[in-house]
Amino acid sequence: PENIGIKAIEVYFPKKYVDQVELEKHDGVSAGKYTIGLGQEKMSFCDDREDIASMALTVVKQFMQKYNVDYKNIGRLEVGTETMIDKSKATKTFLMSLFEESGNHSIEGIDTTNACYGGTSAFFNACQWIDSRAWDGRLALVVSGDIAVYASGNARPSGGVGIACILVGPDAPLALEFPLRGTFMEHVYDFYKPDLSSEFPTVDGPLSIVSYIKALDYAYLGYLKKLELAGESESASLSDLDYIVFHSPYTKQVAKGFGRLLFNDFLRDKNNQKFALIKDQFENETLESSYHNKNLEKAFIQLSKEAYSLKTTPSLLAAKNIGNMYTGSVFFGLASLISSIPSSQLLNKRIALFSYGSGCAASLYSFKVTGDLSDIAKNLDLINRLNDRICVSPPDFENIMSLRQKTHNAVSYSPTGPIEELYPGTFYLESVDSMWRRKYNIA
Ligand code: ACO
Repeated sequence: PENIGIKAIEVYFPKKYVDQVELEKHDGVSAGKYTIGLGQEKMSFCDDREDIASMALTVVKQFMQKYNVDYKNIGRLEVGTETMIDKSKATKTFLMSLFEESGNHSIEGIDTTNACYGGTSAFFNACQWIDSRAWDGRLALVVSGDIAVYASGNARPSGGVGIACILVGPDAPLALEFPLRGTFMEHVYDFYKPDLSSEFPTVDGPLSIVSYIKALDYAYLGYLKKLELAGESESASLSDLDYIVFHSPYTKQVAKGFGRLLFNDFLRDKNNQKFALIKDQFENETLESSYHNKNLEKAFIQLSKEAYSLKTTPSLLAAKNIGNMYTGSVFFGLASLISSIPSSQLLNKRIALFSYGSGCAASLYSFKVTGDLSDIAKNLDLINRLNDRICVSPPDFENIMSLRQKTHNAVSYSPTGPIEELYPGTFYLESVDSMWRRKYNIA
């Protein structure tokens, strides 16, 4: 099979959001801390009517309807998520209820978990299944997303909710570039979820930021090496990448990441004319010496500003307006790019994608645009959908967060969130019975 990759994308995000300007005022932090400091405008959230299984059901059903895919034609279905409602039963198994009517129970793949990276691993698995002798000719679905919620405090405004469904197969307009991939993994306690009774992560914020940047460094260097080995570039650099989609915990981190790529280019080619202005100042810096160097960070954000606005800003539409979606973030980045740049302009371009999951696991890889993406953009209808939401006041947002906290893991429970505040067609949690069995319905 040729051009294995993404054939279509659908996304789902909840109808409710809180405005970051209002949240700044309500939290009593300085004006601009969330909007400029974190680079966020709006944050999606959901009440007790939605969980990871309901959201996965919503996005898959919506996807299959929009693209009119036959349920029998799916041979693999994987879920990448770190949002758990069960330590054993995979979210994938809930999705099998959608396949019941078709009689298709022959579907490989299961859940993959490591912070924000599970969806990337699931996507690689799906592509490699199609590229292997195990492939039976059918298509694969990858479902990737999370409910990102933090305890009240400084991490809370970096939450969000969103889930993506991707159709993977041959002859894809977004073709994965085998074997162009750089990966970095190591053991680090930056963000993790050891308290199984809570929905919240345990976070070392400053460490997570350095860990993200370090993983980016080595994934990027690994990727550049592959570009050179493949004969795609003699001296690989940012200029080999037309667009770069990043995992976005908040968009300011992405700007820092982009600047960091340019710093890597600088270390590889200090005498290049484009670094003339900053060469003396940063001549002796190394990757390791510079993780906490704010002046260097600022200088490279500044130096990369124009390239950033061309290559990366168009992919941040959803991230700015929804927030972090953990495993969903990178696929919402692709969806945003497709929604922001005309398909004709994307044709034959290389789109690189950086995925970071705390703990940590990270990869930088790329797609070649080999076909028309305008139908996907039309079906996504992202801009209109982002504008068709309910703005909730910060006090109401906090009440809903407390409700989720109180009812997390509840047994013999009926959620109370208003069903009329969901988009029509959204799956919602109707009840949890005395054996923790969840029942869903459709709004
Ligand atoms: N106007 C403009 N900028 C401001 C303002 C203001 N009024 N106030 C603060 N800022 C800036 C700060 O200078 C800082 O900028 P910098 O990043 O360039 O240093 C930025 O806003 C953030 O302010 P801090 O005081 O550093 O923020 P705080 O420590 O309160 O929280 C943090 C930030 C640690 C990222 C927190 O939101 C968090 O823990 N989030 C979850 C972890 C996370 O997302 N990590 C990222 C990678 S891992 C992952 O994807 C989960």
